[in-house]
Amino acid sequence: MASLIVTGGYPLSGTLRLSGAKNAALPILAASLLGEHITLADCPHILDVSNMLDILSDIGVKSSWNGEELSLDATGAHSCVMPQRLSKELRSSIFMLGPMLSRFGCAVCTYPGGCEIGHRPIDLHLRGLSLLGVQIREEYGQIVCDGQSMHPAEIHLDYPSVGATENIMMAAVRIKGETIIRNAAREPEIEDLQRFLCLLGYEVSGAGDSTISIRGKDTWKADVYHAVMPDRIVAGTLLCAAAITGGELTLTNARPQHLSAILSKLREAGCLAICSRSRIFLSAPEKLGEIKLIETLPYPGFPTDMQAQFFALCTLCEGTCVIVENVFENRFKHGAELLRMGAAFTQRDRTIVIRGVPALSGTTVTAHDLRGGAALVLAGLAAKGTTRVQQAQLIDRGYDSLEGMLQSLGAHIQREED
Ligand code: UD1
Repeated sequence: MASLIVTGGYPLSGTLRLSGAKNAALPILAASLLGEHITLADCPHILDVSNMLDILSDIGVKSSWNGEELSLDATGAHSCVMPQRLSKELRSSIFMLGPMLSRFGCAVCTYPGGCEIGHRPIDLHLRGLSLLGVQIREEYGQIVCDGQSMHPAEIHLDYPSVGATENIMMAAVRIKGETIIRNAAREPEIEDLQRFLCLLGYEVSGAGDSTISIRGKDTWKADVYHAVMPDRIVAGTLLCAAAITGGELTLTNARPQHLSAILSKLREAGCLAICSRSRIFLSAPEKLGEIKLIETLPYPGFPTDMQAQFFALCTLCEGTCVIVENVFENRFKHGAELLRMGAAFTQRDRTIVIRGVPALSGTTVTAHDLRGGAALVLAGLAAKGTTRVQQAQLIDRGYDSLEGMLQSLGAHIQREED
């Protein structure tokens, strides 16, 4: 257990280089089973990545770090049974199903765990796999997948699920013939997975669009080097941190095109945002203006992973902001904590109406999930006095030392291990 202690009132200023994206790294780590020797540059040092490496290690994939570079050796992978305890801790353990089926023709896992952001079913993953000919049954609480008779298929997803799209891509790369995914998710991290699979020698095209084609192959390259794409959610969180403190920030190694929905809302609040190919400069106004409406949607819509951070920001904006959470049904737990800091809002189902207040005040609050925890840190940066964010280890799931990044920009924030 850890807490972050934040003293508010210091405008952020400085330059930071973005590291690789959690949501790109996790499926790519699972896809290491589809190759042999892999080097990943810019792989983030976060808790979710080390949990995924523990799962890989349990089934025989070796890994070692050299700074931000991660080397993986999948030649000795020997098991299609996922370790139960580790899988329960990490929602992304579900990504192992596709690669395991491709490599071993079988996969056994438990229902995955993860953040407390609502019921997170895996029906779309399982339906996609069964359309590829995988026989799926439940035995003693385990999901047992038999992929001995896999065949190509045309799969129309009922909803553009990020994880289901990625799992089906990885399950199909060695099936002879063409598999097509329609209504695929279009998140940039899926394009990064496609880039990685293509480097391995597989034939995948269309990612970034809603139709993805996979032409199966039974040969692949032994040695692959890939740089993980920069994290657009870490970028968005830092930009909100600069905005909420009335500061200035330059991000390097950024992909501004992936942040269009986020930058548009920051500009609506009166921030100046200037982008070049791989840089974003943001300067915040003295008082943040009104953001009228934020609706979370699949990419390129506004990301649900930025909803909590904007919730914190809007508590201090002029006027009234409506936030509608369309992607996950239980993703407002940070709201009750922000109320304790003096925020003013009402909630009805998935809709929040926030009335901006002149100031928040520091107190003890608790992180309930990864992004909600980050949002409380942002609120603390702007609040009067000191804020203690408990259960900060949840934030470590997706940020490589959020406090370290913020300290380097002039924030007054310390970690305390409880
Ligand atoms: C990924 C991201 C997560 C982000 C989310 C939405 C990773 C590792 N995580 O999660 O950070 O918040 O996309 O952008 O990339 N659903 C079903 N059945 C399924 C799968 C999903 O009903 O089989 C529902 C989910 O409950 C949710 C919605 O679809 O309501 C979106 O989920 P999905 O796109 O699958 O998100 P994840 O891949 O879990």
